[in-house]
Amino acid sequence: MSFPKGFLWGGATAANQLEGAWNEDGKGISISDISTGGSATSSKRITPQLQEGTYYPSHVAIDHYHRYKEDIKLFAEMGFKVYRFSINWTRIYPTGLEDEPNEKGLAFYEDLIDECRKYNIEPLITLCHYEIPFELVKKYNGFASRKTIDCFIKYCRTVFERYKGKVKYWLTFNEINNGTNPVGGYLALGVLNELEKPTEFMHPKDDPQIRFQALHHEFVASALAVKLAHEIDPHYQVGCMQIMATSYPLTPDPADQILTQQHNHRMNWFCSDVQCRGYYPSYMHRYFKENNIHIEMADGDEEILKEGTVDFYTCSYYMSFCQTVHTEKGNEVAGNMMGGTSNPYLKASDWGWQIDPIGLRYSLNEIYDRYQLPIMVVENGLGAYDKKSEDGKIHDQYRIDYLRAHIEQMHEAVLDGVDLFGYTSWGCIDLVSASTGEYAKRYGYIYVNRFDDGTGDFSREKKDSFYWYKKVIASNGEDLA
Ligand code: BG6
Repeated sequence: MSFPKGFLWGGATAANQLEGAWNEDGKGISISDISTGGSATSSKRITPQLQEGTYYPSHVAIDHYHRYKEDIKLFAEMGFKVYRFSINWTRIYPTGLEDEPNEKGLAFYEDLIDECRKYNIEPLITLCHYEIPFELVKKYNGFASRKTIDCFIKYCRTVFERYKGKVKYWLTFNEINNGTNPVGGYLALGVLNELEKPTEFMHPKDDPQIRFQALHHEFVASALAVKLAHEIDPHYQVGCMQIMATSYPLTPDPADQILTQQHNHRMNWFCSDVQCRGYYPSYMHRYFKENNIHIEMADGDEEILKEGTVDFYTCSYYMSFCQTVHTEKGNEVAGNMMGGTSNPYLKASDWGWQIDPIGLRYSLNEIYDRYQLPIMVVENGLGAYDKKSEDGKIHDQYRIDYLRAHIEQMHEAVLDGVDLFGYTSWGCIDLVSASTGEYAKRYGYIYVNRFDDGTGDFSREKKDSFYWYKKVIASNGEDLA
C-alpha cells in the first residue's frame, strides 16, 4: 500500500486559530477577533463592540506569531511536505480599505514562507479563512456588497505579487459552502445583520436573500482571484475549499433519496459546481425560485465565473449525516457547524461528530466523478480531550486510530482511480476550536500547554501521534501501524 509518488503529506491551520498577536504590528480586527470563547455546552458570542473583561480566544490563541520558527521546525521533524496556513487579511490590510498594505504583515508571512522553504515544505495558503476585516462588515455588511470584492482583489494582488516564486498553491475561501447555512453568513461571508447587540454565534439573524447574494459576490471574488493569480504567475495553482459532509438516506424510502439528493446538492455541490464548472447548477434555480431568492448578476459576472474556474478541488472532511422524512426514526446530531440525522452504524466523537472513514472514500469518488480535477483533503482529524498519563505524556491512540482509518480509505479512493495529490490533517498543532472557541478540543500531533482558564505557558510537547505520523510520511503512507 503506497500513495502516488510526491504525495503531499502535511498539516493545516488557520491564522485566527493559532497566531494570537491580534493587534500587533499594525494588524486590524477580523471577524474572528470579536468572537468570544465558548465550550461544548455554551455557545460563543459575536460582540460587535469588544467587551472589556471578556475572553476572546483569537487574541492570544497559541502564540504562533511569536513561535512560528519552533512550530515549523517540529512540522519539519515530522517530515511535512506541505503546510496549509492562512494569511490573515487584516495583517495585510487592517481594515480592508487602505490603499497601501501593512509592510510588517507582509514581512511576517514572507518569513513564515521562507521558514517552510528552508525545510522543503511547500506552503499551501488560504487567502481567507474566516478572517474578513471587521471594518468591511460594519461598512458593507461583508460580501453583501460588491465593494468587498474589490477590497479582496486588492489584497490578493498584493500577496500574489509579493510571494511570487515562493508559493505554488493557493485556496480562495475556506469552506465557502458554509455560506449556504445561516451560521456561515457571518463566518464565511462577513454578513452580520445585527450590529447593535451581541449575537449567539450559532444563531445569527439570517436573511437568505442577503446571504445568497453575498455568496454570489464571493464566487465572483474567487473567480477573479483565480484569473489574477494566473496572470501574475502562470505557475500558480488555485483551488476551492469546501466542507464535504456527505449525507446518506436514512431509509430506502424514495422520499429519503430525494431529500438527501436535495440536501447534498445545496450543501456539498452547489458552491463547487460554480467554482469548478463556472456556472450555477440548474437545481439551484428552482431552490431560489421557491425561496424567493433573487441573485442579482452584474454584467460580466457570468463570464468571470466561466473564466475563473479553479485548478484543483479541496475539502475538509470530518463526518457524515443521514437525512430522512421519517423524523420519528432518527435523532438529530451535531456536526461541523451544521446538523443532520444520526447514523445507527456510526460512533461519534466527544463533540457528537459522527466518525465515518468509508464516507471519505465515497465522497472522494463522487467529487472526482463530477469534476475530474486533482483533489486534496486539506482538513480531517479528531477533536478530542487529551489527558496526560502518569508518565506525563499524551498517549493519543484514539487519534491515531481515527487518522489511520481515514488514510486507509483515502488509499482505497486512490485505487478506485481518484487523482488525490495531498492530505493536510487539521490542527497539526493544538489550536483554538472554530465552532466552540476552546482549547479543550484538541486535534494536534503537538500538544500546547494552554487551557481555557487562561493558564499554561504555551510550551509544545510531542504526542504519540507525532511519532506515528512521522512514520506514515516517511513510508509515503505504507506504514500505518
Ligand atoms: C473547519 C474549519 O470547519 O473545521 C476549521 O475550517 C475548524 O477552522 C475545523 O477548526 C474543526 O472545527 P472545530 O470547530 O472543531 O474547530
